[in-house]
Amino acid sequence: MEDRRIKKVVVLGGGTAGWMAAAYLGKALGPGVTITVLEAPSIPKIGVGEATVPNLHKTFFEFLGIAEEDWMRECNASYKMGIKFTNWRTPGRGEANPRPYGDGTDHYYHLFGLLPNHENHPLSHYWAHKKLGGQTDEPFDYACYREPPIMDAKLSPRFMDGTKWTNYAWHFDTNLISPFLRKWATTNQGAIHIQDLMTEAVIDQRGNISALKTEGGLTIEGDLFIDCSGFRGLLINQAMKEPFLDMSDHLLNDSAVATQVPHDDAANGVEPYTSSIAMSSGWAWKIPMLGRFGTGYVFSSRFQSRDDATLEFCTMWGLDPETANLNQIKFRVGRNRRAWVKNVVSIGLASCFLEPLESTGIYFVYAALYQLAKYFPDKNFDSVLQDRFNAEIETMFDDSRDFVQGHFSFAPRNDTAFWQACKELRLADDFQEKVRMYKAGLAVNMPITDESTYYANFDAEFRNFWNNSNYYCIFAGLDYLPDHSLPALAARQDVLDSAEPVFAQIKQTQKELLTTLPSTYEYLKQLHGK
Ligand code: FDA
Repeated sequence: MEDRRIKKVVVLGGGTAGWMAAAYLGKALGPGVTITVLEAPSIPKIGVGEATVPNLHKTFFEFLGIAEEDWMRECNASYKMGIKFTNWRTPGRGEANPRPYGDGTDHYYHLFGLLPNHENHPLSHYWAHKKLGGQTDEPFDYACYREPPIMDAKLSPRFMDGTKWTNYAWHFDTNLISPFLRKWATTNQGAIHIQDLMTEAVIDQRGNISALKTEGGLTIEGDLFIDCSGFRGLLINQAMKEPFLDMSDHLLNDSAVATQVPHDDAANGVEPYTSSIAMSSGWAWKIPMLGRFGTGYVFSSRFQSRDDATLEFCTMWGLDPETANLNQIKFRVGRNRRAWVKNVVSIGLASCFLEPLESTGIYFVYAALYQLAKYFPDKNFDSVLQDRFNAEIETMFDDSRDFVQGHFSFAPRNDTAFWQACKELRLADDFQEKVRMYKAGLAVNMPITDESTYYANFDAEFRNFWNNSNYYCIFAGLDYLPDHSLPALAARQDVLDSAEPVFAQIKQTQKELLTTLPSTYEYLKQLHGK
């Protein structure tokens, strides 16, 4: 019988996506498959992409057998206990600190992990009942999660002895991650690394790619090609001519200006969270790690010129636009109609891109690799495998796009043409249904598992990635509340009363943690041996 197994996989591109693909597939496919990475040193990587989500370690690094401390040390990684949204409710140009708002300041957190359940209802719904009935003024995040005061105090998600007390993700240096993975994949898995410029994709009679030709005169043959060439989509869009579905009718931002800012950690501490700061025509990220933070203003060129955006961004950080080392980026928003076409699978920026408001880019890379390993073909390229893979990527992307769009649609800010235009954009039908559920007091995408199963099982998480906890953090954070509390809960005063000890326990735990945890700076110094 003819051997139909795939033996040669060629990855085009050596950015974060290319080397993640090489390392992951090397492990998933085993030693019978040769992985070659072709990367053009003359074409720069995107140079951003430093904030992640919590399943990165388990789904990617643990799968490879790399200990958390090891890759953290190699990539100057720090901790992220959530995202702090700053000034999403108050008008004005970019300001790094929250503006006054009500009795407090204009900020809220998007935390990780699932909210506790009490008598079959998530804690969010008890809070909403009290809030709508005027019985509490405490913000949702501070009332329902342990983490917000700890994050305000810049304390660590681990005790000094290493004990982890909460869910977290990571920030890491984008310039260190692909060299680290390259070394790992070439040393431990025998991945072949070729530095040369691809000039042509050779297509056979079936319409498959049979080889890549390079400027240096090489012909690199393969059975399966992974397109990690970035926004160019050289194989998927250019060679296979698969259309990229532009989704700028959902999200207006198309540009960014980014830089790195040195930071005095000893004087100011290290924030254990990503910040997302609302600006006049978009928002800016702040991603702290030891010694510096990465930052970038994501804006819409339809509403602000690059010069004015750069000025607003530099003014916020006290930088001189003439001398600062700025990375000016233009991006496309959307996804390929199909991520996998014939024998080409696109991953990373070549596949899809959503502005990084919820740090989804690197997650999309390893989620796609996980799915590819599951649906991995032989040389027959059964279309059912491709169709299933493509359906997974489509749902993953569109669901995240809708969740991100919700941040802009329901932000009360209306002070500039950009914020006004966000309110005019179409919401996808599925998403409108979720919003209707939320407004009617129901839980959106309630996970069917508890927290331990949810985070231990990637399929469970993947199918339910943005769930009630996420929707509540964002919508309640923006003061976008349900119209009324859940009738089934409102009718049970005894059940409502019985949740009070749960809220009290959260307060108690916050107090204890505030007095016992080390600072994030102290913990990171120990971890990195500084
Ligand atoms: P990238 O562009 O980095 O790499 C492309 C590779 O292809 C390069 O090695 C290049 O040399 C190679 N190449 C191109 N043409 C070639 C040719 N002809 N021959 C050979 N090689 C060729 N994600 C996230 O999770 N958290 C975040 O905080 C952010 N933030 C963020 C901000 C902004 C503004 C953007 C645009 C993106 C993000 N991302 C992100 C996304 C993240 O940056 C991205 O998903 C990863 O860096 C992966 O990038 P790629 O490897 O796909 O492309």
